[in-house]
Amino acid sequence: MTQIIILGATGSVGETTFRVVQAEPERVSVDGLVANTQGERLWAMGRALQARWIGLADYAAGAALRRQHPSGAPRIAAGMDDILAEIAASPATKVIGAMSGFSGLLPTLTALENGKDILLANKETMVAAGDLVQKVAHESGQKIIPVDSEHSAIFQCLAPGQPVRRILLTCSGGPFRGRSREDLRSVTVEDALHHPNWSMGAKITVDSATLMNKGLELIEAHHLFSVPYEQVEVLIHPQSIVHSLVEFVDGATMAQLGWPDMAVPVQVALSWPERWAMDSLPLDLTRQPLTFDPPDTGTFEALTIARQAGLAGGLMPTVLNAANEVAVSLFMARSIAFLSIIDIIKEVLNDFADNEEVSGLAQILEADQWARTQAADVAMRYRQ
Ligand SMILES: NC(=O)c1ccc[n+]([C@@H]2O[C@H](COP(=O)([O-])OP(=O)(O)OC[C@H]3O[C@@H](n4cnc5c(N)ncnc54)[C@H](OP(=O)(O)O)[C@@H]3O)[C@@H](O)[C@H]2O)c1
Repeated sequence: MTQIIILGATGSVGETTFRVVQAEPERVSVDGLVANTQGERLWAMGRALQARWIGLADYAAGAALRRQHPSGAPRIAAGMDDILAEIAASPATKVIGAMSGFSGLLPTLTALENGKDILLANKETMVAAGDLVQKVAHESGQKIIPVDSEHSAIFQCLAPGQPVRRILLTCSGGPFRGRSREDLRSVTVEDALHHPNWSMGAKITVDSATLMNKGLELIEAHHLFSVPYEQVEVLIHPQSIVHSLVEFVDGATMAQLGWPDMAVPVQVALSWPERWAMDSLPLDLTRQPLTFDPPDTGTFEALTIARQAGLAGGLMPTVLNAANEVAVSLFMARSIAFLSIIDIIKEVLNDFADNEEVSGLAQILEADQWARTQAADVAMRYRQ
């Protein structure tokens, strides 16, 4: 029986994990669940899974939930400090990292430092602090197992001791595939949230529309698999069936295929190195065309920007991630236009003059904060 914690339990990946875990009561039990504000849903999940504790990062929401449910079963942690203490003390051995954004960094580090493997969906943590997260995992002897579908595919294709020539990250192209920059001037939040293949949280769906999601995944792949950026390429594959490919030095190329369903990478991460049966739809490749194209980096500049930030290294990816989070939330609040997301990120990256090697968490927190403030300032000129 594996005991786990689910970070971001009320989100899209969190709800998928909840279903996977509910189907495996003999194999997985849940010690704790974490969300931000959705107390009643988290409480219901905690009761259904017989969790020992649940935690809301938003202190006021956690305190309110405690007043509503004073019974203490499950116990309710309020605020991030309480949550980090619960994670540190938990007997769980695996933590699903499915919080959205930079907020996942501290719980991820705490889990690794306290003897837990991380099953990581939360790519922003790897983008903002990949070297640090890998260092902490290495020092504490813990594993980082990818849950992001592309990285799960790569993870399943790789074999120990087999040198890689290229990693091919597949990308659906998002809702605006084939559109020109001119077309993108007037797209709305609703248009951007209409992903053709995947049902996901709002932030990652907008990232998929700008293609910044693939840019973040490029940096994530570099850190997870220790591959140079020159060896990671992006391939547009509108059907989202081939989840990514690994080309080995002899030219042999392995791919992992399946319907777009996050339950598979979640379960693979939980079961690895075993495989558990799952009631999933089989592929019918006689009816399913598979097509591949190069990305349109002229219209979707995010890929180039992310690659440049990754190559610059140091704190540049931290700044990229923070500027993107701010710009995406302003777009979702309808304060800026879709194309302004990338314009703001480019300005913030240009303004960042203090790039340096990362030696610790404090530097990352400072760069993240600087980039958030800078992005908000820059965005004032883009408000509509
Ligand atoms: N969705 C997918 O299919 C998918 C696929 C691959 C990778 N990912 C990655 O997985 C992560 C989660 O994505 P998602 O689509 O599941 O996001 P989502 O639906 O927006 O859910 C986010 C979850 O994180 C919680 N959360 C947000 N801010 C928090 C904070 N400051 N402190 C604690 N908890 C916080 C939310 O709690 P509340 O509900 O209380 O706000 C919710 O449980 C992202 O990094 C994304 O890039 C997602």
